[in-house]
Amino acid sequence: MKNAAMLRCLLAIGFIGAASAARSDGAGDPTPFASTDGQYFDKAGNPTFKIEKDGTVDWYTFIGYRMYGANCLQCHGPDALGSSYAPSLVDSLKSLTTQQALGAIIGGKRDVTASQDLVMPTFGENKNVMCYLNPIYVYLRARSDGALGRERPTKHEDKPADWDKTIDACFS
Ligand code: HEC
Repeated sequence: MKNAAMLRCLLAIGFIGAASAARSDGAGDPTPFASTDGQYFDKAGNPTFKIEKDGTVDWYTFIGYRMYGANCLQCHGPDALGSSYAPSLVDSLKSLTTQQALGAIIGGKRDVTASQDLVMPTFGENKNVMCYLNPIYVYLRARSDGALGRERPTKHEDKPADWDKTIDACFS
C-alpha cells in the first residue's frame, strides 16, 4: 500500500470504528482482534494496544509514548495524568470514543467560560502529530485502560518492516 494511502486508511479506520460505550474505555473492549504491520485493532476496528504479561508493548504503544512526550505532555502532563491547564487524558479516554478522541486531536477544542479559556490546539496540519496519530492514540488508550502504568515502556515488539518508509513518506 502506498504510504499516503496508508495514512488515509489509518485515519479512516479510526473514524469508522464503531464505539460501544464500555464502562472504562470509551472505545469499547480493547482486546486485540486483528493486526497488520505491527498495528493492532480491536473487534470494532479501532486501533488498540497489545501488552504482554512481561511488559513487552506493541510498537505503536512504544512510539506513542515518545510522541506523546514530544507533543502533548507539556499541557496534558506526564503519563497523560493532566495538569492545571489541560485535562487528564487517562480520564478522558474512559468515555471518549476513538472518533471523538482523534477528532479532538485533529480538529482541536476550545472551552471558553467566564473564568477560563482553554484551548486544545488543532493538530490536523502538524505532521509531527498526524504521522503518529494512531501510535499516540493507542498509547493513551493503554494508559486509560490501566494496561500501561506510569513506567517508561522499554521492551517492545520489533519495528514493523515498512515503518521507516511509511513515516518518511508521511513527512515528505
Ligand atoms: C497547548 C496545550 C495543549 C497541547 C500541546 C495539547 N493539548 Fe489536548 N487539550 C488541551 C486543552 C486545554 C484541552 C481541553 C479543551 C476543552 O476542554 O475544550 C485539551 C483537550 C484534549 C482532548 C479532549 C479531552 C476531552 O475530555 O474532551 C484530547 C483527546 C486531547 N486534548 C489530546 C491531546 C493530544 C493527543 C495532544 C498531543 C498530540 C494534545 N492534546 C496536546 C491542551 C493541549
